[in-house]
Amino acid sequence: MNCAELLVEIFGSQAELARAFQLDRAVVHNWVKVGYVPARWAGEVERLTQGRISAVEVINEASAKNPVRVKSRPGDAPFGILSETDPMSQYAPAKRIYSFHPPQRTLMGPGPTEIHPRVLTTMSQPAIGYLDPIFVEMMEELKSLLRYVYQTKNPLTFPLSGPGSVGMEYCFVNMVTPGDKVIVCQNGVFGGRMLENAARCGGSPVVVEDKWGEPVDPQKLEDALKKNRDAKLVAFVHAETSTGCQSDAKLLTQIAHKHGALVIVDAVTSLGGTPVKVDEWEIDAIYSASQKCLSCTPGLSPVSFSERVVEHVKKRKDKIHSWFMDMNLLLGYWNAGARTYHHTAPTNSLFALHEALLLLREEGLENSWARHSRHHFALKAGLEAMGMKFLVAEKDQLPQMNAVLCPEGVDEARVRSTLLTEFGLEIGAGLGPLKGRIWRFGLMGYSCRPDNVMLCLSALGSVLNDMALPVHVGDAEAAAHGAYAQMHVKDAQRKKRAA
Ligand SMILES: Cc1ncc(COP(=O)(O)O)c(C=O)c1O
Repeated sequence: MNCAELLVEIFGSQAELARAFQLDRAVVHNWVKVGYVPARWAGEVERLTQGRISAVEVINEASAKNPVRVKSRPGDAPFGILSETDPMSQYAPAKRIYSFHPPQRTLMGPGPTEIHPRVLTTMSQPAIGYLDPIFVEMMEELKSLLRYVYQTKNPLTFPLSGPGSVGMEYCFVNMVTPGDKVIVCQNGVFGGRMLENAARCGGSPVVVEDKWGEPVDPQKLEDALKKNRDAKLVAFVHAETSTGCQSDAKLLTQIAHKHGALVIVDAVTSLGGTPVKVDEWEIDAIYSASQKCLSCTPGLSPVSFSERVVEHVKKRKDKIHSWFMDMNLLLGYWNAGARTYHHTAPTNSLFALHEALLLLREEGLENSWARHSRHHFALKAGLEAMGMKFLVAEKDQLPQMNAVLCPEGVDEARVRSTLLTEFGLEIGAGLGPLKGRIWRFGLMGYSCRPDNVMLCLSALGSVLNDMALPVHVGDAEAAAHGAYAQMHVKDAQRKKRAA
């Protein structure tokens, strides 16, 4: 009996085997047909059969039936079996490595999101140097587009090379002088990261804690500032991705300013999806990330510092503790004028961000915010029609991040993995204390579309119904269609009144 047949025997049927490996049945059927299990599954086979079939058995059988071929290697043994003399064998398991082609997925988790084809095309353009005059011209446009998206005239607005976490560190490392008192508002995972940053920068953090799923309480912040009159900074997350809750960034900033503190705002999930008005709200320092409502490739973090912050950082007597994130050094590359090498900028990712921001400008920020709300209302109607409850009170719900409580008794991880393997749909799990308790449905940027809303509702309805939960297939879709229809009517009435 070969390993594939043995696996079917152990799991009872091809269907059960497919379920255990979270694979499509057709894949498992193919293993049986060809008479071996591909070597890349060796570890999983050993784990899931609790050692009844060892990884080595799978690898040996797969290598015998389907020898590894390494192309264009003169002198290799026929069919290029990975032998002990092959230099590659020291560094890699005995498996064939092909060009990587990721599957097509519908991304409705907490990010990354799907990327618009125009952005993907732009990203695959030929590389040019990061000091090429054409590139430098593009950098200036990129800064202007970011100012538009952030609604700010701040000259120091640019994308950092690195994910949102780098934007977070950049703000703290530049703005916190060791010993500074920093008030950090925490109502989810990312407030906790801010707290960690404040402490690592040598600051003296004071936490204002709120329940996960609730916004930052302005009164608690006011009280903390009254108790800590020497606080230099206030940090908070505008859109807490771990819970789908939005805090009032304008009000929190006003309170901080009333007490003479500067603010650091995390707009990783809000930027592009809900209003973020840096100048109007007088935000001092803000950071975001490219892979959420901007729908670009991950790895860039747009940041903006007001003139007040630039002065604050320039006045520091000590050296900024991070060379890479030192604002003064980064200015030499991102400021207009004579640019000097700081680090090798991720040029093709920056082309992509330019295109993603251009798409946003073409759509119009207000239209983008309205689109996020529209599809949120439809998704919400559908989820509620399936009996789901939102974690966050309606007035604080983020349109782009919908956190719902998992129904009692459901194997939530199995639901997510079935959605992924059978429908190619990714949704998010709960983090920290919400692990296993919530699902997070992202509707961000290019992923925020009616076809995704409908696919998600119908896939989820079908999976839950399959698992014998009291969900009627079709109810959710009908509710979402109803919500869209109501919104159309309201829009038409509004337009009529305005005409
Ligand atoms: C609110 C918030 N802040 C910070 C981050 C960190 O961003 P990144 O994962 O791009 O480093 C995330 C990531 O999901 C986030 O949601």
